[in-house]
Amino acid sequence: MSPLLSIEGVNKEFQVRGKTVVALDSVNLTVAEGEFVTVVGPSGCGKSTLLNLIVGLLQASSGRILFRNRPINGINPEIGYVTQKDNLLPWRTLVENVELALEIRGIEKGARRQRAMELIERVGLNGFEDHYPHELSGGMRQRANIIRTLIYDPGLILMDEPFGPLDAQTRIVLQDQLLTLWSTTNKTIIFITHDLVEAIALADRVVVMTSRPGKIKCVASVPVPRPRDVYQIHQHPEFLFAHERLWKELRPEVKLAGG
Ligand SMILES: Nc1ncnc2c1ncn2[C@@H]1O[C@H](COP(=O)(O)OP(=O)(O)OP(=O)(O)O)[C@@H](O)[C@H]1O
Ligand SMILES: [Mg+2]
Repeated sequence: MSPLLSIEGVNKEFQVRGKTVVALDSVNLTVAEGEFVTVVGPSGCGKSTLLNLIVGLLQASSGRILFRNRPINGINPEIGYVTQKDNLLPWRTLVENVELALEIRGIEKGARRQRAMELIERVGLNGFEDHYPHELSGGMRQRANIIRTLIYDPGLILMDEPFGPLDAQTRIVLQDQLLTLWSTTNKTIIFITHDLVEAIALADRVVVMTSRPGKIKCVASVPVPRPRDVYQIHQHPEFLFAHERLWKELRPEVKLAGG
């Protein structure tokens, strides 16, 4: 079966005031339908650039990206993008934010409200549906940010450090909810994080990137069985093994990026 997403020899350079910045160098990666892939790498190594290329916000300098065997050509509505900043509309309530994508698609009010409420309940936000974004905590807003993308059922979901600004406990709760949503909806997810523990806890495969220009340094499968208990995962021998192995790969890159 052909992969859902295929990144083939992708390079990306930016021209900044006469200088060339090579953000990505010869990136090759395929992602299968239903897979959960996480990407770790030091700051500035091109992780967000990679997602921007996949979603069609940027064009590769060379190489190509195929989604369902077709080259990416401009913004693709089959690909959802959960950004680090939540982008909720401040003048709409939680439920109105969550149902926005269905409203744009012309889905009738009763049906879209019902779907939005189902998702709100699944992430434990019921009771807050009429609150405005500024009346929600950071963790609540990030949950809303994720379900407003899930609601239109994109074939691929890209997440750029969605839990980055949250405290450690809230992150674990949201990781747990995300794994439940993923396993019950059969979504394909590419998830970027700075946190190696998070990367391993969530993923089928972890991609480690080098410092700039970003290349793929290694890709490792995570053999921890599912369903996973993210609260206890650090005790699992397979987790410890993967962590030790991947930290050896990541550590020199983080040091290089830090100067
Ligand atoms: N639109 C742009 N114009 C010029 N340079 C850019 C642009 N976007 C990114 N870059 C450069 O490309 C490189 C990679 O940036 P990118 O945002 O992809 O890194 P990142 O891995 O997501 O970093 P972080 O972990 O800090 O979010 C950086 O050197 C950045 O300055
Ligand atoms: Mg980034």
